[in-house]
Amino acid sequence: MTDELIEAARSALDAAYVPYSDYTVGAALRTADGTVFTGCNIENANYSNSLHAEEVAIAEAVKNGHREFDRLAVSSGVRDGVTPCGMCRQTLAEFCDDDLPVVCDDGDESTTTYTLGELLPATIGPETLESAKHSKKTE
Ligand code: THU
Ligand code: ZN
Repeated sequence: MTDELIEAARSALDAAYVPYSDYTVGAALRTADGTVFTGCNIENANYSNSLHAEEVAIAEAVKNGHREFDRLAVSSGVRDGVTPCGMCRQTLAEFCDDDLPVVCDDGDESTTTYTLGELLPATIGPETLESAKHSKKTE
């Protein structure tokens, strides 16, 4: 059985705006209460302004008051085995624990699941800056 969240990520592919790369990406992020937010990539003529599917999904979720997540799925309409890029991994790490499952679409019924911690170990998180407020490194 295909993961329901993968199905949601695949559905989001239809809205992708990719006139420059032709590489569609869809993401589906599930909140702690089971709500699913999806995102697709939205490119821009100034290439570096392009929005990634994962950041669109998390922005939509946070804007709607959700800050706790328990699962992410990503899919590409072009190539199997897509994973979130480094920037998206860091964006996710702001709100998600290391054990967040990241389900990556390998096509048909097949997926590969990583944890966020596997994809981005030793990340900078909110606690990194929090500890800086209270302590100073001694020499
Ligand atoms: N892309 C995403 O949407 N998510 C990622 O994390 C990897 C890259 C998009 C951005 C661009 O529109 C296209 O894939 C090619 O890089
Ligand atoms: Zn990305």
